[in-house]
Amino acid sequence: MCGIVGILGNKPVAQRLIDGLKRLEYRGYDSAGIATLESGLLHVCRAQGKLVALQSAFDSSPIIGNLGIGHTRWATHGVPSEVNAHPHVSSKVAVVHNGIIENYAHLKEALIKKGHAFVSQTDTEVVTHTITDYLNQGLSPFDAFKASLKDFHGAYALAILIKDTPDTLFVARRGSPLVVGFGDGETYIGSDALVLAPWTKQLCYLEEGDYAILTPEKAMFYNEYGQSVDRPIKTISINADAVTKGGYDHFMLKEIFEQPTAVKETVESLIDPVSERLKLPVDVDWNAITKITMVACGTSYFSTAVAKYWFEMIAKLPVEVDIASEFRYRESPLPKGGAALFISQSGETIDTLEAMKQAKEMDQTTIVVVNVPESSMDRLADYSFHTKAGPEIGVASTKAFTCQLAVLATLCLDAAIKRGVLSDVEAKEYAQQLLNLPNEIYGILQKESDYQQVAETLKPARDALYLGRGTSFPIAMEGALKLKEISYIHAEGYAAGEMKHGPIALIDQLMPVIVLAPFDKWMVKTLSNLQEVIARGGIAICFTDRIGREHIQKDQIPTQIVEMPMTHLMTAPILYAVPMQLLSYYTALLRGTDVDQPRNLAKSVTVE
Ligand code: F6R
Repeated sequence: MCGIVGILGNKPVAQRLIDGLKRLEYRGYDSAGIATLESGLLHVCRAQGKLVALQSAFDSSPIIGNLGIGHTRWATHGVPSEVNAHPHVSSKVAVVHNGIIENYAHLKEALIKKGHAFVSQTDTEVVTHTITDYLNQGLSPFDAFKASLKDFHGAYALAILIKDTPDTLFVARRGSPLVVGFGDGETYIGSDALVLAPWTKQLCYLEEGDYAILTPEKAMFYNEYGQSVDRPIKTISINADAVTKGGYDHFMLKEIFEQPTAVKETVESLIDPVSERLKLPVDVDWNAITKITMVACGTSYFSTAVAKYWFEMIAKLPVEVDIASEFRYRESPLPKGGAALFISQSGETIDTLEAMKQAKEMDQTTIVVVNVPESSMDRLADYSFHTKAGPEIGVASTKAFTCQLAVLATLCLDAAIKRGVLSDVEAKEYAQQLLNLPNEIYGILQKESDYQQVAETLKPARDALYLGRGTSFPIAMEGALKLKEISYIHAEGYAAGEMKHGPIALIDQLMPVIVLAPFDKWMVKTLSNLQEVIARGGIAICFTDRIGREHIQKDQIPTQIVEMPMTHLMTAPILYAVPMQLLSYYTALLRGTDVDQPRNLAKSVTVE
């Protein structure tokens, strides 16, 4: 949510800053801008809209300099416009910011009384004026920067140019991520490792409350108490090709089609494909745990909702699941010594991160399933398990979700084995099914024309209903979320058995109903709910398998069928998630919406 980049270079930086912003555009695309400092002058170039607008503004009026900062915005305070675009600049200071300065109104009022003139509606502009004000009072640039940090409440990753300090960049982190990279006579900063990937692999993460002064040759770090500290430099290798579409029309489609590989790498990092035995990187004592609280947001939350079924049915461990933004303020009493498990693609979602901090304070063992190594959650958790999805750029999460489910399934097996509720033979069967997932996903991906056909039915709809029972219920919710976010069709995922308690009133010819009915202990009941839809004149499309098809044909239910492979308790939700992704993708294509950058959204939600 907002991306920032900075280069202290030994050659011109402006075009490289824009190139860096291209790798960050998934974090926000309302407006973008860059600023450079050259021969004691601040130069700025900003534009409303996506990066192409900034590129053309820069092409017609280039700016120069070897030191610069850049920003891509997801609007919080103030509409998307050029005047609200970062960097926010005074005669002395240029600022880019990711986060929210919560006490900005109070600071702004005081600064206006002192004669500062504000031009934007953003919270960030108070940062510019606060530092300028301290400079006007005669403080040195470093002291003005340090003093200003004490004034800000809320979350920030900040990068600041100060006119009188050539070759110097001031940065700070509280609540929003910031990474420093070291190259050959150059230093870089960015919101994540991906933006720095083509420039350097030598990275150093600021800790919470840290600030730093950077020059092209070195970085000096300070902790929140102002003490000089060393922060370790790590070698982090990220494939910058992940930020290209690799021949696909959209990142989302590329990422959907990467799932066989991503799931294979994830599963095989946890289960030995030869012995079919688990080989987890860390040893969780599941016997010491009486209840797990699982917390996440959005799509990642739906993976906790699937895992609840698995852990309770297979490992016999009670699980509570919660949305992070609700969990944080619910004051839920957690059992002393319990476990809290967090799921996140980015590892930076502020609600999930804050929930994790709260769980730690409540003496919980914290476990995270995360896709971005070295992200805030990865570094904070007691135990980390990595999904091997690789960078996910499409705003709608796809491969990260199926990889999260693969990790959670394996953790459930680990718990069940250690708790003595799963025999060796059963464990091996489950392991084989998980190891076979990549082949099954590959097969599902080959049936594109089936999903394109269903998309034609969804295209004119204003609303859609997704129904499922058991582990298919969270997949129904995930399918509905995917459809909403990229095609803008209103969709609801409902427990099929709950439909008769309200939503059945909505059934008509105009609202397609997607029914998920793999052969499992819930299937017959789900098919009865499908009958209820048909009986009321609804249009239904049923995703089911050979056995489901036989039932539907025997009962002569007039419904469109998309036939899936036969699945098992652990593989069904993972496999049924894939056609839901493709269905929303093709529907969005037919409706002409922006698949990779849907309106109002951004990936990596670092504001509350
Ligand atoms: C939906 C989607 C979001 C994220 C949510 C959590 O397609 O991508 O709902 O799942 O914002 O993000 P992470 O997993 O990064 O914590």
